[in-house]
Amino acid sequence: MKCSIRLWRPEDAADLAAALNNRNILANLRDGLPYPYTKSDAESYIGAMLSAPAENQYSFAITVEDKAVGSIGVFRKENIHFRTAEMGYYIAEPYWGNGITTHAVRQICGYVFENSDILRIFAEPFARNTASCRVLEKAGFSLEGTLRKTRSKTVTFWI
Ligand SMILES: CC(C)(COP(=O)(O)OP(=O)(O)OC[C@H]1O[C@@H](n2cnc3c(N)ncnc32)[C@H](O)[C@@H]1OP(=O)(O)O)[C@@H](O)C(=O)NCCC(=O)NCCS
Repeated sequence: MKCSIRLWRPEDAADLAAALNNRNILANLRDGLPYPYTKSDAESYIGAMLSAPAENQYSFAITVEDKAVGSIGVFRKENIHFRTAEMGYYIAEPYWGNGITTHAVRQICGYVFENSDILRIFAEPFARNTASCRVLEKAGFSLEGTLRKTRSKTVTFWI
């Protein structure tokens, strides 16, 4: 399976919507994403990423055979944290468990450290999100701690 990351293209909208229109994914992300997640939502996101200041965000499609199957981004923080950036990612459920996200995390971190002044990239998965924690571990991240009582997810999905 040939996976990679590349810049978003407007024509990825249908694939992005198909991937993200899934409660098993949304349950592990922050609040604010619509459900159902439509092609129009995906078009807005891709447009925003393509027009955002290049030095503040590094946003890519995760691809398999050049088809967008997920999303990964590194977003610069502000003020005294301007050389720190937060990473987020997800891939479509049919592609889980093939090492694709671990590969994408390695790729984006290599790209950002080589092409920016960012010194630190972090991620904050929910503690229950074993797969995401494992991705970070495999990609070489260090566990610095478990934040307690730090967030309240108001949109909860269950099956
Ligand atoms: C988290 C997510 C991105 C992982 O993507 P992926 O491409 O399947 O990840 P990888 O295949 O690179 O690695 C997953 C690892 O987690 C492990 N894993 C998956 N589910 C697990 C579970 N319930 N318990 C223990 N380990 C688990 C896999 O076995 C694999 O580890 P291994 O290679 O040692 O066997 C994907 O599941 C996803 O999109 N989830 C929903 C959105 C999300 O959680 N995003 C991250 C928010 S911080």
